[in-house]
Amino acid sequence: RKIDLIGVPLHYGASRCGIEYGIESLVEICPEYEKRIEIVEVEPQKEDFGNKKLKFLNTISKTCNELAVRTERSVREGKLPIIMGGDHAIALGSIAGVSKEKKIGVLWVDAHGDFNTEDTTESGHIHGMPLAASLGYGTDKLTNCHYEGSKLEVENVVLFGIRSLDEDEEKLINEAGVRCYKYSEIAERGFEVCIAEASEILAKNNLDIHISFDLDSVDPLEVTGVSTPVKDGISREEGKEIFRYMFRNHNISSVDIVEYNPLYEERKETAEYVDELIKRIEAQ
Ligand code: ARG
Ligand code: MN
Ligand code: MN
Ligand code: MN
Repeated sequence: RKIDLIGVPLHYGASRCGIEYGIESLVEICPEYEKRIEIVEVEPQKEDFGNKKLKFLNTISKTCNELAVRTERSVREGKLPIIMGGDHAIALGSIAGVSKEKKIGVLWVDAHGDFNTEDTTESGHIHGMPLAASLGYGTDKLTNCHYEGSKLEVENVVLFGIRSLDEDEEKLINEAGVRCYKYSEIAERGFEVCIAEASEILAKNNLDIHISFDLDSVDPLEVTGVSTPVKDGISREEGKEIFRYMFRNHNISSVDIVEYNPLYEERKETAEYVDELIKRIEAQ
C-alpha cells in the first residue's frame, strides 16, 4: 500500500518547546523525506488564557480539524497515512479523520495514558488528553473534532507501556474500562505475552487498527529526544517488534509517531529511530 507522510509541527499541546522542530530534524538526517512529507501548518488562534485547564485549546482544535480532513482523504484514497508530530494532541485529529472513513480500534503505545480531561488534568496540557477526547470524554471542542461525538469504543482500545498516570486520570481509565498494560505488567509477564494478548483483544471485533506511538514509550536511556521522559520502558527493538507484530496480525489503517523533541536528544538517535520505524512500516 502507498504511504502518505503527514507532518504536523504542533507544540502547543506540550509544556516544553522543541517538538515543533522534530520534522526538520528528521529531514536533516534523511533528506529524502523533505519532498515526501506533506505539512499541515499550525496557525495560532486567539486563545482564552484564563483557561488554565485547556491551554491553547483553539489552536489545537483548529490544527486537529485540518489534520482530520487530510487523514480522512488519505485513507479514502486507499493509502496508509503516517502522521508525524508534533506533540501527541494531534492524534485526536488523525483518529477523527480515519474513523470518519471506517470504524477502527486503537493501540496506544506510551509512557502516559493521555486520558485526562479538563476535570482530571494537573497540567492543563492537551497532549495529555487526546485518547480520552477520542472516546468522548472532555470538552466539546475536542470531542467533536471533525464530526460530532465519540470516535472509538472502549472495548477497541488498548494502552501499552504505561508508567505515568495522574491520579484522577487513572480513575477515569478504570471507570471507562479500557485495558491498560502498564510497563510493570509487561516487565513482569513478558513483552511477547503482553503484545500477543493486546493484539488478541484488538482482534475481537475485526476492525482496522490505528497505532498511536509516543516515542516516550521507549526507555529514555535508549531514546532521549522526548519532552516528558519517564524511567524504564520498552526497548527500541520492542518498539519495532510492536509494528512487526501488529502489521502481521491486523489490517493497520494508520500510524502516529509523535513527541520527537530534538532539543533534548543527546545524539541523533531519536531521529534515527523515527527513520527506522518508518522504514519498518514501509517494508510491510
Ligand atoms: N499526564 C501528564 C499531563 O497530562 C503528561 C502527559 C504527557 N503526554 C504526552 N503525550 N507526552 O500533563
Ligand atoms: Mn507520553
Ligand atoms: Mn502521549
Ligand atoms: Mn527496559
